[in-house]
Amino acid sequence: RAEADPLRPSFHFVSPAGWLNDPNGVAQWDGTYHLFYQYNPEGAFHHRIQWGHATSTDLVTWTDQPVALEPSTGPDADGCWSGVLVNDGGTPTLVYSGRLGERELPCVAVGSPDLSTWTKAPENPVIAAPPAGVDITAYRDHCVWREGNRWRQLVGSGVRGRGGTAFLYESADLRSWDYVGPLFIGDASQGDPAGTDWTGTMWECVDLFRAGTGTLGTEPADDSPDVLVFSAWNDGDTRHPLYWTGRYSGDSFEPAALHRLDYGGRYFYAPQSFLDDAGRRIMFGWLQEGRTDAAMVEAGWSGVMSLPRITTLAEDGTLRFAPVPELEKLRGDHTSLPARELAATLDTGVHGNQLDLELDIHLAPGAVLRLGVLGSGDGAEDTVIEVGRPALDAGGAEGILRLDRTRSSLDSSVDAEDRSGPVPMTGGHVHLRVLVDRSAVEVFANGKPLTARVYPTCGGGNVTLSATGAVHLDAFDAWTMADIRGGGRTLFP
Ligand code: FRU
Repeated sequence: RAEADPLRPSFHFVSPAGWLNDPNGVAQWDGTYHLFYQYNPEGAFHHRIQWGHATSTDLVTWTDQPVALEPSTGPDADGCWSGVLVNDGGTPTLVYSGRLGERELPCVAVGSPDLSTWTKAPENPVIAAPPAGVDITAYRDHCVWREGNRWRQLVGSGVRGRGGTAFLYESADLRSWDYVGPLFIGDASQGDPAGTDWTGTMWECVDLFRAGTGTLGTEPADDSPDVLVFSAWNDGDTRHPLYWTGRYSGDSFEPAALHRLDYGGRYFYAPQSFLDDAGRRIMFGWLQEGRTDAAMVEAGWSGVMSLPRITTLAEDGTLRFAPVPELEKLRGDHTSLPARELAATLDTGVHGNQLDLELDIHLAPGAVLRLGVLGSGDGAEDTVIEVGRPALDAGGAEGILRLDRTRSSLDSSVDAEDRSGPVPMTGGHVHLRVLVDRSAVEVFANGKPLTARVYPTCGGGNVTLSATGAVHLDAFDAWTMADIRGGGRTLFP
């Protein structure tokens, strides 16, 4: 059923069945990449979450492994929620949130050398309760690292009436933890364009790392800041990934600047990153659905894992992202267009719903480029990516990236709200990379990502270009992308 579904992505990782949410325990271990994820194989809804598991040698094709963690009697009886993988002197060890009733507490499990079977620690939960005397909104998800001769851990939370929080702990053995204090308490009302709680009343999936060379807690070899990534949760509709740059030192985090991580907002949620053997910081995020709960259940699957993206720090102190180059091996039929000035709508001749598009453009002040994908050809459906340069730009200002989903689907029950955010550009130059995979769209404009889901109904795959003002197309390359699924995968076991 799901394999014939035209909305089910073909070169993104999706779970073999049912529901997928956050990436967990992302790592490279003995050369092999491991992706664990929040999983409910029973159906496309969030319930009694297990840890699904897949491995890869190239970050492109994935082999499903048996479920790694399942709820059992004890502190995780109602779910094995998000967490991380650490190397405990050669022993693979997971730190995750066990859910029992309405509450989550930190738990540990120890893995076989191939990371396929896991034994829960008898000490679970390894932290018996959240910090006493603090009125918290929630308490879960983990970032764990080695510092000197001890382990340190962040647990995501929120202090009621103030904002999202990361609580800091330390341990000699991952089993017995001392509470150090709040590493950092956010201000939920800060930078709020639309109302309240833009920075979250609760921080899910905190991820702290040193941006450049060097490791957390050491003197920085260069000026690279530390980065505190979190998914700002609130009761409203603006849950999204954000990050603080700043300096982690001693027992606190000195914030410098707050940024949006992906302009898709909740469509790139709960990201987690790791350093691979080549020293690349690779991040995965959960592309959640923009359709109704009933539509997911009917489809039999829900949730897409993002393509792995390399995370770097730019000179302006913000992060830039690019899909790992390994993905280029999926490229098939190639089309390119000669450099030209763009005017009226141009049918590129490219067609398909599994595509990798790469463009270099120059925008005159006030100009806008529109790239239409997944078009039905008759104007009924079109998903439009826009890049614009401000009219009063003397050369180095910020432009805007926008995803217009107004006509992305004839199905009026799906989310079609606009997404947009600023893009740094010099002299109007934009490098645009767009990966289209059926219902998943990942856009990178000068390294600024905008990820979202769309649900075209017409089966169209037209790619068009149009411009307002003077837009010069320096390069246009398009490739069809191969399918990573199939190959005897067992579906709906
Ligand atoms: C984020 C999240 C985490 C939690 C997990 C449960 O999407 O809510 O905070 O651990 O998902 O599946």
